[in-house]
Amino acid sequence: MVQILEGYVCLYWGDSGKGKLVDEAVERAQQQSDRKRTVVVRFQGGPNAGHSMYVRNSKGILVPFITHAAPSGLVSRADIAVGPQVAFDPEKFLNELNEVRDLFDYDGRIMVSERAGVLMDYHRQLDAWQESLRTNKIGTTLSGMGPFYMDNARRDTRITFADYVSDKFHEKLASVLDLKQLELSAAGISPIDYFDELIALHKPIRKELKPFAERLEYRMQEYLEKGNHIIIEGAQGTGLDVDMGTIDDVTSSHLLMSEGLASLGLPRKAFKIVGVEKIYPTRVGNGPMPTLDRGLEEMGENAGEYGATTKRRRREGWPDLVFVRRSAFLNDCDRIALTRADCLQDIEVKVCTAYLVNETFTEEVPFYLKDAKSIYNEETFKWHLWDGPRDISDPKLVDDELKSKRAAYIEQGFESLPTGLKDFVKFHNIFVGVPIDRVSIGPARGETVQTNYH
Ligand code: IMP
Ligand code: MG
Repeated sequence: MVQILEGYVCLYWGDSGKGKLVDEAVERAQQQSDRKRTVVVRFQGGPNAGHSMYVRNSKGILVPFITHAAPSGLVSRADIAVGPQVAFDPEKFLNELNEVRDLFDYDGRIMVSERAGVLMDYHRQLDAWQESLRTNKIGTTLSGMGPFYMDNARRDTRITFADYVSDKFHEKLASVLDLKQLELSAAGISPIDYFDELIALHKPIRKELKPFAERLEYRMQEYLEKGNHIIIEGAQGTGLDVDMGTIDDVTSSHLLMSEGLASLGLPRKAFKIVGVEKIYPTRVGNGPMPTLDRGLEEMGENAGEYGATTKRRRREGWPDLVFVRRSAFLNDCDRIALTRADCLQDIEVKVCTAYLVNETFTEEVPFYLKDAKSIYNEETFKWHLWDGPRDISDPKLVDDELKSKRAAYIEQGFESLPTGLKDFVKFHNIFVGVPIDRVSIGPARGETVQTNYH
Protein backbone atom coordinates (compact mmCIF):
# COMPACT_ATOMS: atom_id res chain seq x y z
CA MET A 1 0.00 0.00 0.00
CA VAL A 2 1.29 3.40 -0.93
CA GLN A 3 0.59 6.43 1.19
CA ILE A 4 -0.33 9.21 -1.21
CA LEU A 5 1.22 12.50 -0.13
CA GLU A 6 0.99 15.02 -2.93
CA GLY A 7 0.79 18.77 -3.43
CA TYR A 8 -0.67 20.48 -6.50
CA VAL A 9 0.32 24.01 -7.47
CA CYS A 10 -0.32 25.98 -10.66
CA LEU A 11 2.73 27.24 -12.58
CA TYR A 12 1.05 30.16 -14.37
CA TRP A 13 -1.82 32.41 -13.25
CA GLY A 14 -4.38 29.89 -12.06
CA ASP A 15 -7.19 27.99 -13.72
CA SER A 16 -4.95 25.15 -14.75
CA GLY A 17 -7.14 22.19 -13.87
CA LYS A 18 -5.90 21.53 -10.33
CA GLY A 19 -9.42 20.57 -9.28
CA LYS A 20 -9.54 17.69 -11.74
CA LEU A 21 -6.08 16.42 -10.81
CA VAL A 22 -6.83 16.60 -7.09
CA ASP A 23 -10.00 14.67 -7.76
CA GLU A 24 -8.01 11.98 -9.57
CA ALA A 25 -5.49 11.82 -6.76
CA VAL A 26 -8.32 11.30 -4.30
CA GLU A 27 -9.69 8.52 -6.46
CA ARG A 28 -6.28 6.84 -6.57
CA ALA A 29 -6.07 7.05 -2.79
CA GLN A 30 -9.57 5.73 -2.28
CA GLN A 31 -9.06 2.84 -4.68
CA GLN A 32 -6.30 1.45 -2.50
CA SER A 33 -8.93 -0.16 -0.27
CA ASP A 34 -6.51 0.19 2.58
CA ARG A 35 -9.14 1.60 4.94
CA LYS A 36 -7.03 4.73 5.28
CA ARG A 37 -8.56 8.17 5.22
CA THR A 38 -7.88 10.78 2.54
CA VAL A 39 -7.79 14.47 3.30
CA VAL A 40 -7.66 17.37 0.84
CA VAL A 41 -6.18 20.53 2.33
CA ARG A 42 -6.35 24.11 1.13
CA PHE A 43 -3.61 26.35 2.39
CA GLN A 44 -4.10 29.90 1.10
CA GLY A 45 -6.41 32.31 -0.68
CA GLY A 46 -10.12 32.32 -0.27
CA PRO A 47 -13.26 32.42 -2.39
CA ASN A 48 -11.33 34.26 -5.10
CA ALA A 49 -10.56 30.71 -6.21
CA GLY A 50 -12.94 28.58 -8.19
CA HIS A 51 -12.38 24.88 -8.68
CA SER A 52 -14.69 23.64 -11.42
CA MET A 53 -15.52 19.97 -11.49
CA TYR A 54 -18.12 17.52 -12.58
CA VAL A 55 -19.57 15.20 -9.97
CA ARG A 56 -22.07 12.42 -9.94
CA ASN A 57 -25.03 13.07 -7.71
CA SER A 58 -26.72 10.27 -5.77
CA LYS A 59 -28.72 9.40 -8.89
CA GLY A 60 -25.49 8.92 -10.85
CA ILE A 61 -26.04 12.02 -13.00
CA LEU A 62 -23.03 14.19 -13.86
CA VAL A 63 -23.55 17.73 -12.60
CA PRO A 64 -21.20 20.74 -12.61
CA PHE A 65 -19.95 21.87 -9.24
CA ILE A 66 -17.64 24.73 -8.30
CA THR A 67 -16.02 25.10 -4.92
CA HIS A 68 -14.80 28.51 -3.85
CA ALA A 69 -14.42 28.35 -0.09
CA ALA A 70 -14.13 24.62 0.50
CA PRO A 71 -11.32 22.35 -0.67
CA SER A 72 -12.32 20.52 -3.82
CA GLY A 73 -12.03 17.19 -1.98
CA LEU A 74 -15.52 17.88 -0.73
CA VAL A 75 -17.02 16.63 -3.97
CA SER A 76 -14.80 13.56 -3.98
CA ARG A 77 -16.20 12.61 -0.58
CA ALA A 78 -12.76 13.01 1.00
CA ASP A 79 -12.05 14.60 4.37
CA ILE A 80 -11.29 18.28 3.97
CA ALA A 81 -9.11 20.73 5.85
CA VAL A 82 -8.66 24.49 5.75
CA GLY A 83 -5.19 25.75 6.64
CA PRO A 84 -4.19 28.71 8.84
CA GLN A 85 -3.36 31.03 5.94
CA VAL A 86 -6.72 30.70 4.25
CA ALA A 87 -9.19 33.56 4.04
CA PHE A 88 -12.06 31.50 5.35
CA ASP A 89 -15.53 32.52 4.19
CA PRO A 90 -17.90 30.80 6.63
CA GLU A 91 -21.08 31.60 4.75
CA LYS A 92 -19.84 30.31 1.39
CA PHE A 93 -18.21 27.31 3.05
CA LEU A 94 -21.44 26.30 4.72
CA ASN A 95 -23.41 26.78 1.51
CA GLU A 96 -21.02 24.54 -0.40
CA LEU A 97 -21.16 21.97 2.36
CA ASN A 98 -24.95 21.99 2.32
CA GLU A 99 -24.94 21.68 -1.45
CA VAL A 100 -22.92 18.46 -1.35
CA ARG A 101 -25.02 17.20 1.52
CA ASP A 102 -27.99 17.63 -0.82
CA LEU A 103 -26.22 16.10 -3.81
CA PHE A 104 -25.08 13.03 -1.94
CA ASP A 105 -24.60 12.11 1.68
CA TYR A 106 -21.28 13.75 2.31
CA ASP A 107 -19.99 12.50 5.63
CA GLY A 108 -16.25 13.25 5.47
CA ARG A 109 -14.39 14.78 8.36
CA ILE A 110 -14.15 18.57 8.25
CA MET A 111 -11.33 20.48 9.85
CA VAL A 112 -10.76 24.21 9.93
CA SER A 113 -7.59 25.54 11.49
CA GLU A 114 -8.43 27.64 14.53
CA ARG A 115 -5.80 30.02 13.14
CA ALA A 116 -7.53 30.60 9.81
CA GLY A 117 -8.78 34.16 9.48
CA VAL A 118 -12.45 34.80 8.85
CA LEU A 119 -13.42 36.72 5.76
CA MET A 120 -16.15 39.22 6.55
CA ASP A 121 -18.60 41.24 4.49
CA TYR A 122 -16.60 44.43 5.00
CA HIS A 123 -13.55 42.81 3.36
CA ARG A 124 -15.50 42.45 0.13
CA GLN A 125 -16.81 45.99 0.35
CA LEU A 126 -13.36 47.37 1.09
CA ASP A 127 -11.94 45.40 -1.86
CA ALA A 128 -14.45 47.08 -4.19
CA TRP A 129 -13.69 50.47 -2.66
CA GLN A 130 -9.90 50.05 -2.98
CA GLU A 131 -10.24 48.84 -6.56
CA SER A 132 -12.42 51.84 -7.41
CA LEU A 133 -9.69 54.18 -6.17
CA ARG A 134 -6.99 52.59 -8.31
CA THR A 135 -5.87 54.27 -11.49
CA ASN A 136 -4.12 51.07 -12.51
CA LYS A 137 -6.74 48.49 -11.72
CA ILE A 138 -5.63 45.05 -10.57
CA GLY A 139 -8.90 43.54 -11.68
CA THR A 140 -9.42 41.68 -8.40
CA THR A 141 -12.19 39.15 -7.99
CA LEU A 142 -13.72 41.51 -5.41
CA SER A 143 -13.79 38.73 -2.86
CA GLY A 144 -11.96 40.74 -0.22
CA MET A 145 -8.46 39.27 -0.45
CA GLY A 146 -6.45 42.50 -0.21
CA PRO A 147 -8.31 43.89 2.83
CA PHE A 148 -8.40 40.47 4.49
CA TYR A 149 -4.65 39.92 4.35
CA MET A 150 -4.08 43.53 5.42
CA ASP A 151 -6.03 42.73 8.57
CA ASN A 152 -4.01 39.56 9.10
CA ALA A 153 -0.80 41.55 8.95
CA ARG A 154 -2.24 44.30 11.14
CA ARG A 155 -3.03 41.64 13.79
CA ASP A 156 -5.55 43.34 16.06
CA THR A 157 -8.14 43.59 13.29
CA ARG A 158 -7.92 39.89 12.43
CA ILE A 159 -10.75 37.61 13.46
CA THR A 160 -9.47 34.06 13.67
CA PHE A 161 -11.68 31.02 13.36
CA ALA A 162 -10.98 30.40 17.06
CA ASP A 163 -12.45 33.84 17.86
CA TYR A 164 -15.30 33.27 15.46
CA VAL A 165 -16.65 30.13 17.06
CA SER A 166 -15.95 31.23 20.65
CA ASP A 167 -18.17 33.31 22.88
CA LYS A 168 -15.64 36.13 22.47
CA PHE A 169 -16.89 36.79 18.95
CA HIS A 170 -19.19 39.74 19.80
CA GLU A 171 -16.51 41.49 21.77
CA LYS A 172 -13.91 40.83 19.08
CA LEU A 173 -16.12 42.06 16.26
CA ALA A 174 -17.00 45.22 18.17
CA SER A 175 -13.35 45.96 18.75
CA VAL A 176 -12.43 45.27 15.11
CA LEU A 177 -15.20 47.51 13.79
CA ASP A 178 -14.04 50.17 16.18
CA LEU A 179 -10.42 49.94 15.04
CA LYS A 180 -11.48 49.97 11.41
CA GLN A 181 -14.00 52.75 11.82
CA LEU A 182 -12.15 55.38 9.80
CA GLU A 183 -11.53 53.03 6.93
CA LEU A 184 -15.09 51.71 6.91
CA SER A 185 -16.65 55.14 6.86
CA ALA A 186 -14.28 56.29 4.11
CA ALA A 187 -15.47 53.29 2.09
CA GLY A 188 -19.07 54.33 2.72
CA ILE A 189 -19.95 51.40 4.96
CA SER A 190 -22.68 52.70 7.16
CA PRO A 191 -22.20 51.84 10.83
CA ILE A 192 -25.95 51.92 11.53
CA ASP A 193 -27.03 48.42 12.49
CA TYR A 194 -23.92 46.96 10.78
CA PHE A 195 -22.68 45.23 13.92
CA ASP A 196 -26.13 43.78 14.63
CA GLU A 197 -26.50 42.60 11.04
CA LEU A 198 -23.18 40.77 11.13
CA ILE A 199 -23.98 39.21 14.49
CA ALA A 200 -27.36 38.03 13.25
CA LEU A 201 -25.96 36.69 9.98
CA HIS A 202 -23.20 34.73 11.66
CA LYS A 203 -25.05 33.38 14.69
CA PRO A 204 -26.41 30.21 13.03
CA ILE A 205 -23.28 29.76 10.90
CA ARG A 206 -20.98 29.93 13.92
CA LYS A 207 -23.04 27.35 15.71
CA GLU A 208 -22.91 24.98 12.79
CA LEU A 209 -19.19 25.40 12.08
CA LYS A 210 -17.98 25.30 15.68
CA PRO A 211 -17.30 21.53 15.76
CA PHE A 212 -14.87 21.89 12.88
CA ALA A 213 -12.30 24.06 14.71
CA GLU A 214 -9.04 22.17 15.01
CA ARG A 215 -5.42 22.62 16.00
CA LEU A 216 -4.72 21.60 12.46
CA GLU A 217 -0.94 21.10 12.63
CA TYR A 218 -1.48 18.27 15.12
CA ARG A 219 -4.26 16.69 13.10
CA MET A 220 -2.00 16.73 10.03
CA GLN A 221 0.71 14.95 12.03
CA GLU A 222 -1.82 12.29 12.97
CA TYR A 223 -2.91 11.80 9.37
CA LEU A 224 0.72 11.49 8.36
CA GLU A 225 1.72 9.06 11.09
CA LYS A 226 -1.29 6.82 10.64
CA GLY A 227 -0.47 6.33 6.97
CA ASN A 228 -3.45 8.31 5.71
CA HIS A 229 -3.40 10.07 2.35
CA ILE A 230 -2.87 13.85 2.27
CA ILE A 231 -3.41 15.96 -0.82
CA ILE A 232 -2.50 19.61 -0.66
CA GLU A 233 -4.41 21.78 -3.05
CA GLY A 234 -3.01 25.09 -4.19
CA ALA A 235 -5.20 27.88 -5.47
CA GLN A 236 -4.48 30.61 -8.04
CA GLY A 237 -0.99 30.22 -9.51
CA THR A 238 2.67 31.08 -8.98
CA GLY A 239 2.39 34.16 -11.21
CA LEU A 240 -0.10 35.60 -8.71
CA ASP A 241 2.01 35.05 -5.57
CA VAL A 242 2.11 38.21 -3.48
CA ASP A 243 5.93 38.28 -3.45
CA MET A 244 7.03 36.12 -6.37
CA GLY A 245 4.32 36.96 -8.90
CA THR A 246 3.90 39.82 -11.34
CA ILE A 247 3.71 42.63 -8.78
CA ASP A 248 1.36 44.65 -8.51
CA ASP A 249 -0.98 42.41 -10.45
CA VAL A 250 -1.02 39.60 -7.94
CA THR A 251 -3.27 38.28 -5.23
CA SER A 252 -2.52 38.94 -1.56
CA SER A 253 -1.49 35.50 -0.33
CA HIS A 254 1.61 33.31 -0.38
CA LEU A 255 0.91 30.45 -2.68
CA LEU A 256 4.13 28.58 -3.27
CA MET A 257 3.93 24.98 -2.13
CA SER A 258 6.63 25.48 0.52
CA GLU A 259 4.23 27.87 2.23
CA GLY A 260 1.56 25.17 2.27
CA LEU A 261 3.86 22.59 3.77
CA ALA A 262 5.22 25.02 6.34
CA SER A 263 1.85 26.27 7.51
CA LEU A 264 0.49 22.74 7.83
CA GLY A 265 3.62 21.45 9.55
CA LEU A 266 4.18 18.81 6.90
CA PRO A 267 7.62 17.56 5.82
CA ARG A 268 8.77 18.45 2.29
CA LYS A 269 10.69 15.21 1.90
CA ALA A 270 7.59 13.08 2.30
CA PHE A 271 5.65 14.87 -0.43
CA LYS A 272 5.56 14.72 -4.18
CA ILE A 273 5.05 18.24 -5.51
CA VAL A 274 3.25 18.43 -8.83
CA GLY A 275 3.28 21.64 -10.87
CA VAL A 276 0.06 21.94 -12.82
CA GLU A 277 0.46 23.56 -16.19
CA LYS A 278 -2.38 24.19 -18.55
CA ILE A 279 -0.56 23.85 -21.86
CA TYR A 280 -1.51 27.42 -22.76
CA PRO A 281 -1.41 30.03 -19.98
CA THR A 282 -4.42 32.20 -19.26
CA ARG A 283 -4.94 35.29 -17.17
CA VAL A 284 -8.10 36.78 -15.84
CA GLY A 285 -7.80 40.28 -14.44
CA ASN A 286 -4.96 42.63 -15.31
CA GLY A 287 -1.25 42.09 -15.58
CA PRO A 288 1.31 41.07 -18.16
CA MET A 289 1.52 37.74 -19.95
CA PRO A 290 4.35 37.86 -22.51
CA THR A 291 2.92 35.20 -24.82
CA LEU A 292 -0.59 36.68 -24.97
CA ASP A 293 -2.05 36.29 -28.45
CA ARG A 294 -5.50 37.45 -29.47
CA GLY A 295 -5.33 34.84 -32.22
CA LEU A 296 -5.97 32.22 -29.54
CA GLU A 297 -9.33 33.72 -28.61
CA GLU A 298 -11.34 31.30 -30.69
CA MET A 299 -9.55 28.36 -29.13
CA GLY A 300 -10.22 29.83 -25.67
CA GLU A 301 -13.86 30.35 -26.49
CA ASN A 302 -14.18 26.70 -27.52
CA ALA A 303 -12.42 25.67 -24.37
CA GLY A 304 -14.79 27.67 -22.16
CA GLU A 305 -12.16 30.04 -20.79
CA TYR A 306 -14.33 32.06 -18.45
CA GLY A 307 -13.43 32.78 -14.83
CA ALA A 308 -15.11 30.32 -12.45
CA THR A 309 -15.53 33.05 -9.83
CA THR A 310 -16.19 36.18 -11.86
CA LYS A 311 -17.32 34.79 -15.24
CA ARG A 312 -14.87 37.17 -16.89
CA ARG A 313 -13.33 36.09 -20.17
CA ARG A 314 -9.77 34.87 -19.66
CA ARG A 315 -6.93 35.88 -21.98
CA GLU A 316 -4.89 33.14 -23.65
CA GLY A 317 -1.21 32.84 -24.54
CA TRP A 318 1.30 30.40 -26.04
CA PRO A 319 3.25 28.02 -23.82
CA ASP A 320 5.85 30.08 -21.96
CA LEU A 321 8.62 27.77 -20.83
CA VAL A 322 10.74 30.60 -19.44
CA PHE A 323 7.98 31.35 -16.98
CA VAL A 324 7.27 27.69 -16.28
CA ARG A 325 10.91 26.86 -15.55
CA ARG A 326 11.06 29.54 -12.86
CA SER A 327 7.74 28.48 -11.31
CA ALA A 328 8.89 24.86 -11.30
CA PHE A 329 11.98 25.60 -9.26
CA LEU A 330 10.26 28.13 -7.00
CA ASN A 331 7.84 25.38 -6.01
CA ASP A 332 10.52 22.66 -6.01
CA CYS A 333 8.36 20.56 -8.32
CA ASP A 334 9.11 16.87 -8.65
CA ARG A 335 6.80 16.44 -11.62
CA ILE A 336 4.66 18.51 -13.94
CA ALA A 337 1.13 17.65 -15.01
CA LEU A 338 0.20 19.08 -18.38
CA THR A 339 -3.49 19.81 -18.87
CA ARG A 340 -5.79 20.64 -21.78
CA ALA A 341 -3.54 19.25 -24.50
CA ASP A 342 -6.74 18.52 -26.41
CA CYS A 343 -7.62 22.21 -26.67
CA LEU A 344 -4.54 23.04 -28.74
CA GLN A 345 -4.90 20.24 -31.28
CA ASP A 346 -4.62 21.19 -34.96
CA ILE A 347 -2.91 24.47 -34.08
CA GLU A 348 0.70 25.26 -34.94
CA VAL A 349 1.94 25.66 -31.36
CA LYS A 350 4.70 28.19 -30.72
CA VAL A 351 6.82 27.82 -27.60
CA CYS A 352 8.43 30.76 -25.84
CA THR A 353 12.00 29.94 -24.82
CA ALA A 354 13.46 33.40 -24.20
CA TYR A 355 12.48 37.01 -23.67
CA LEU A 356 13.82 40.16 -25.19
CA VAL A 357 14.05 42.79 -22.45
CA ASN A 358 15.45 46.22 -23.23
CA GLU A 359 17.15 44.85 -26.33
CA THR A 360 18.81 42.02 -24.42
CA PHE A 361 17.93 38.35 -24.70
CA THR A 362 17.31 36.55 -21.45
CA GLU A 363 16.01 33.25 -20.16
CA GLU A 364 15.19 34.79 -16.78
CA VAL A 365 11.81 36.21 -15.81
CA PRO A 366 12.42 39.94 -15.32
CA PHE A 367 10.80 41.85 -12.49
CA TYR A 368 9.00 44.16 -14.93
CA LEU A 369 7.47 41.38 -16.98
CA LYS A 370 5.50 43.82 -19.11
CA ASP A 371 8.80 44.85 -20.70
CA ALA A 372 9.45 41.31 -21.89
CA LYS A 373 8.83 40.43 -25.51
CA SER A 374 8.42 36.72 -26.07
CA ILE A 375 10.93 34.96 -28.31
CA TYR A 376 9.76 31.70 -29.81
CA ASN A 377 11.61 28.52 -30.52
CA GLU A 378 12.13 27.83 -34.22
CA GLU A 379 10.51 24.43 -34.06
CA THR A 380 6.76 24.45 -33.61
CA PHE A 381 4.53 21.57 -32.57
CA LYS A 382 1.27 20.34 -33.99
CA TRP A 383 -0.89 17.33 -33.21
CA HIS A 384 -4.23 15.87 -34.07
CA LEU A 385 -6.01 13.81 -31.44
CA TRP A 386 -9.43 13.28 -32.96
CA ASP A 387 -11.83 14.74 -35.49
CA GLY A 388 -14.60 16.91 -34.26
CA PRO A 389 -14.69 19.40 -31.43
CA ARG A 390 -11.37 20.39 -29.96
CA ASP A 391 -12.36 20.51 -26.40
CA ILE A 392 -15.74 20.37 -24.94
CA SER A 393 -15.35 21.78 -21.49
CA ASP A 394 -18.71 20.35 -20.56
CA PRO A 395 -18.25 16.57 -20.36
CA LYS A 396 -22.01 16.09 -20.58
CA LEU A 397 -21.82 17.23 -24.20
CA VAL A 398 -19.08 14.84 -25.14
CA ASP A 399 -20.53 12.05 -27.22
CA ASP A 400 -19.65 8.40 -26.88
CA GLU A 401 -17.43 8.43 -29.94
CA LEU A 402 -15.17 11.13 -28.52
CA LYS A 403 -15.22 9.45 -25.15
CA SER A 404 -13.99 6.22 -26.66
CA LYS A 405 -11.22 8.01 -28.54
CA ARG A 406 -10.04 9.53 -25.28
CA ALA A 407 -10.32 6.17 -23.57
CA ALA A 408 -8.14 4.52 -26.22
CA TYR A 409 -5.30 6.99 -25.64
CA ILE A 410 -5.58 6.53 -21.93
CA GLU A 411 -5.46 2.78 -22.21
CA GLN A 412 -2.68 2.63 -24.78
CA GLY A 413 -0.64 5.22 -22.92
CA PHE A 414 1.77 7.96 -23.79
CA GLU A 415 3.34 6.26 -26.78
CA SER A 416 -0.01 6.20 -28.56
CA LEU A 417 -0.31 10.00 -28.51
CA PRO A 418 0.38 11.92 -31.74
CA THR A 419 4.07 12.55 -32.43
CA GLY A 420 3.72 16.34 -32.26
CA LEU A 421 2.38 16.18 -28.73
CA LYS A 422 5.01 13.70 -27.63
CA ASP A 423 7.71 15.91 -29.13
CA PHE A 424 6.31 18.86 -27.23
CA VAL A 425 6.50 16.88 -23.98
CA LYS A 426 10.09 15.79 -24.67
CA PHE A 427 11.15 19.33 -25.58
CA HIS A 428 9.44 20.62 -22.45
CA ASN A 429 11.16 18.05 -20.22
CA ILE A 430 14.58 19.09 -21.45
CA PHE A 431 13.96 22.84 -21.33
CA VAL A 432 12.24 22.94 -17.96
CA GLY A 433 14.26 20.19 -16.30
CA VAL A 434 11.28 18.67 -14.50
CA PRO A 435 9.59 15.71 -16.19
CA ILE A 436 5.96 15.75 -17.21
CA ASP A 437 4.33 12.73 -15.60
CA ARG A 438 0.84 13.02 -17.09
CA VAL A 439 -1.02 14.73 -19.90
CA SER A 440 -4.68 15.56 -19.47
CA ILE A 441 -6.72 15.21 -22.66
CA GLY A 442 -10.22 15.77 -21.35
CA PRO A 443 -12.06 17.43 -18.49
CA ALA A 444 -13.59 14.37 -16.86
CA ARG A 445 -12.07 12.31 -14.10
CA GLY A 446 -9.61 9.77 -15.51
CA GLU A 447 -9.10 11.47 -18.88
CA THR A 448 -5.38 11.71 -18.24
CA VAL A 449 -2.54 9.86 -19.96
CA GLN A 450 0.45 8.77 -17.86
CA THR A 451 3.92 9.32 -19.29
CA ASN A 452 6.99 7.19 -18.60
CA TYR A 453 7.94 9.43 -15.72
CA HIS A 454 5.12 8.41 -13.47
P1 IMP B 1 -7.76 38.93 -5.88
O1 IMP B 1 -7.13 37.63 -5.51
O2 IMP B 1 -9.26 38.86 -5.94
O3 IMP B 1 -7.27 40.07 -5.07
O4 IMP B 1 -7.31 39.26 -7.39
C1 IMP B 1 -5.98 39.58 -7.74
C2 IMP B 1 -5.64 39.02 -9.12
O5 IMP B 1 -5.63 37.60 -9.04
C3 IMP B 1 -6.66 39.34 -10.21
O6 IMP B 1 -5.96 39.46 -11.43
C4 IMP B 1 -7.54 38.13 -10.25
O7 IMP B 1 -8.19 37.96 -11.48
C5 IMP B 1 -6.53 37.04 -9.99
N1 IMP B 1 -7.10 35.83 -9.38
C6 IMP B 1 -7.49 35.66 -8.10
N2 IMP B 1 -7.93 34.43 -7.87
C7 IMP B 1 -7.80 33.77 -9.04
C8 IMP B 1 -8.06 32.42 -9.43
O8 IMP B 1 -8.49 31.57 -8.65
N3 IMP B 1 -7.79 32.12 -10.72
C9 IMP B 1 -7.27 33.02 -11.59
N4 IMP B 1 -7.02 34.28 -11.27
C10 IMP B 1 -7.27 34.65 -9.99
MG1 MG C 1 -10.00 28.58 -11.12
